[in-house]
Amino acid sequence: MELKREMLDALNSQLNAELYSAYLYLAMAAYFDSKGLKGFAHWMRVQAEEEVEHAMKFYDYINDRGGRVILRAIEKPPTEWDSITDAIRAGLEHERAVTEAISSLVDLARKLGDKPTEVFLHWFIEEQVEEEKSFAEILQALQLAGESPQALLLLDQRLAQRKD
Ligand code: FEO
Repeated sequence: MELKREMLDALNSQLNAELYSAYLYLAMAAYFDSKGLKGFAHWMRVQAEEEVEHAMKFYDYINDRGGRVILRAIEKPPTEWDSITDAIRAGLEHERAVTEAISSLVDLARKLGDKPTEVFLHWFIEEQVEEEKSFAEILQALQLAGESPQALLLLDQRLAQRKD
């Protein structure tokens, strides 16, 4: 079954969106590094690497279906946030938007009767639950403990443990 043009365009857009996610989280890593929060920065770096893996899943899938990967310009991410909490909240909001985008892709695949793409996207549906959860947990910890140096240091140590 040939990949329809509309589906191909949407998959290429999502490939770009995943690379933007990587760029956004790398920008957050740089922001945390500038604040001396090495654990937060490490967590975001690992997150950025994960987003590149997501992008590559789209890359491989498009190729597997005989489509043409077209790389587009990656939007410039922000460089500053008002606070540590604000940056993490922005991450959570971004993940919620990604969840919406994946959901729209599923709708499109269904509309076009493209079962392979629908099945391919299931992995992302599950992954988005994890993505939102991990940001929400950090945000909750920040909201509970606040941004005192002591609370930040503890959380920073915890986030430093994230495995690649
Ligand atoms: Fe690629 Fe964070 O979702």
